[in-house]
Amino acid sequence: MTTNTFDFIGGDKGQWKVISINTVCGLPIETVQYLDILPHLTNTGNKGVWTLTGFTSNVRYAEKDEREKLIAVQSDLGRPLATYAALIPIRKTESWWTMAQDERRKIFEAKSHHTETGLKYLPAIARRLYHCRDIGQPFDFLTWFEYAPEDSVKFEELVKSLRETEEWKYVDREMDIRLIKS
Ligand code: HEM
Repeated sequence: MTTNTFDFIGGDKGQWKVISINTVCGLPIETVQYLDILPHLTNTGNKGVWTLTGFTSNVRYAEKDEREKLIAVQSDLGRPLATYAALIPIRKTESWWTMAQDERRKIFEAKSHHTETGLKYLPAIARRLYHCRDIGQPFDFLTWFEYAPEDSVKFEELVKSLRETEEWKYVDREMDIRLIKS
């Protein structure tokens, strides 16, 4: 484990207060009151009720022009105005993972327009993608978003439109955890 690995700890304390936990599909996770996020290396045993671990990594699908567009408009995490957050852990089906990279990219972008759609919501929504498929976790990704309360409607619109895409036919477990800075 390296410094790009983080623990998302659901329990009775943390920087984020849980507003809601919804099961979009698949098995639910236990309800908790707070979420704490700690670098895995500095977490000396705080496991809470549950802990989800993920690491940041290089891009898999974004092409050069998309990466440049993202870098040009994206905002950082931790903005004081971004008092709302969402943690959306996602697992994809075996049929997704048995496809070749170019087949997945086709579904992800050419058919589902994931990046093209997402870009319209930047810089209002700050985002970070954590991977966890290969480290024995119950999800493949932990997706994290921060935004101002006035951008909540926009965020709901984005999540709804992504869930209607072909890419989401390959999602077999998804939780939607909404938070407010505590
Ligand atoms: C805020 C606007 C968003 C933008 C700009 C965006 C952009 C991206 C990009 C560029 C990637 C590919 C990274 C790579 O090349 O490896 C990605 C992956 C991903 N995003 Fe988003 N996204 C956004 C919102 C969302 C939302 C709201 C969700 C969940 C509801 C989500 C879930 C995911 C997942 C699960 C992946 C990993 C897909 C895979 O590797 O199979 N994204 N996103």
